Amino acid sequence: MTTTAATERLIIRGGHPLRGRIAVSGSKNAALYAVAATLLTAEPMTLRNVPAIADIGEMAELLRDLGASVEVDGEIMRVEAHIGEKTAADPERAASLRASFLVMGPLLGRLGEAACAPPGGDVIGSRPLDVHFAGFRALGAVVQREGPEYVARASKLRGARIFFDYPSVLGTVNVIFAAVLAEGMTTIVNAAAEPEVAMACDLLNAMGARIEGGGNNTVRIEGVTSLHGADFTIIPDRIEAGTYLLAGVATDGDIEVVGAVPDHLDSLVAKLREANVLVEPFTLPAQASSGRVDVGIRVRRGGRFDAVQLQAVPYPGFATDLHAPMAAALTQAHGVSIIHERVYDNRMNYVSELRFMGARMTTGGQSVMIEGPTALIGTPVRAHDVRAGAAVVLAALCADGETTIRDITHIDRGYADLDVRLRALGADVSRR
Ligand code: EPU
Repeated sequence: MTTTAATERLIIRGGHPLRGRIAVSGSKNAALYAVAATLLTAEPMTLRNVPAIADIGEMAELLRDLGASVEVDGEIMRVEAHIGEKTAADPERAASLRASFLVMGPLLGRLGEAACAPPGGDVIGSRPLDVHFAGFRALGAVVQREGPEYVARASKLRGARIFFDYPSVLGTVNVIFAAVLAEGMTTIVNAAAEPEVAMACDLLNAMGARIEGGGNNTVRIEGVTSLHGADFTIIPDRIEAGTYLLAGVATDGDIEVVGAVPDHLDSLVAKLREANVLVEPFTLPAQASSGRVDVGIRVRRGGRFDAVQLQAVPYPGFATDLHAPMAAALTQAHGVSIIHERVYDNRMNYVSELRFMGARMTTGGQSVMIEGPTALIGTPVRAHDVRAGAAVVLAALCADGETTIRDITHIDRGYADLDVRLRALGADVSRR
């Protein structure tokens, strides 16, 4: 797994239109859900296309600490979760990433008890856990705070009809994890519909679960008594793909991103077309060796790159994780763009950095107004979180002169080999 020294910086000399073809990694978030799902069986699990990023390494350590054996061989992860003695996640690891809380559902379902300290993650707003707790309680668990940890216990979980106040992504996955081993039928109404949730349900079904409607707002789970091992491939990362597509557009380039699944990127594709970008989905011939078929998207400007307005909302709306990269790209669009953030209450960390670089941005509440096009200037800036980091990278690729980006551990958490991929597209990027 990639680890980044705290002092490492990205140095980008902008002004090169990106050209060529790259492939994206497996989805960071979907892979985190898949690693957590391996806790639901003692049988061997093989996960493929697992991205080489720090968060996955942290999640693997969390599982090892619970007694699982985890082997990583490039993009393949093998897990055997012979667990039972320990039902509490290591508090320090839990605090290092948001997805650590996903050990709760599997441990509760399999062992009847689970404990985890408040999870870490990007500082992008208040990130409550009430949806998780309401779901566990509806299934019959007692959930309470005991010292530094949240603890959930149940002598038996029973299926229930559960309405979520908010379609929380991790909340949906966690409650599904618990419900697959509950007795009887669980129906979740107002579930998150993200492709990563759909993939988690596909994985669980491959392990013997009975889930219908994964990736829809209503999910039905018929409980089973046990799950078995599986060999499963993680879906490509739609946020990483979207970030590179936006980098291509921002720099007035012409790029093909293999692994940009058009069905997962409808909202981005629609906005890019509205802004006069030519967006062409393609399919590569099946690979003789594996029979695998790769899809992707080519982007290039088809006329004047125009301003757009959008709101970041739960899937299939415009992804909040693409808000900051989109804002950076829109500094190059003609006219006034507006982005309304409707998922998080503090996702504007990138604005101050882009302003240092000369962007004309005005914020009000959870909205940002961007006037363009702007000739950005290379400046020392920092990455506040993974997507704010992606935004400064995009701005740097467009800027005149050299941009030095510090705190890039955040960027490396979500983008494997970002500098290598950007260099393959002709960017002048180095790491020191
Ligand atoms: N929310 C609630 N109650 C809850 C949980 C969440 O009201 O119990 C609200 C939060 O306040 C927030 C919104 O729901 O405003 C979104 O939270 P959600 O629970 O859906 O997010 P998450 O599951 O914690 C995952 C991804 C995020 C991504 C969001 C939304 C992982 C590890 N994280 O977080 O990814 O932004 O879904 O799509 O899967 C990223 O990759 O940069 C990232 C932050």
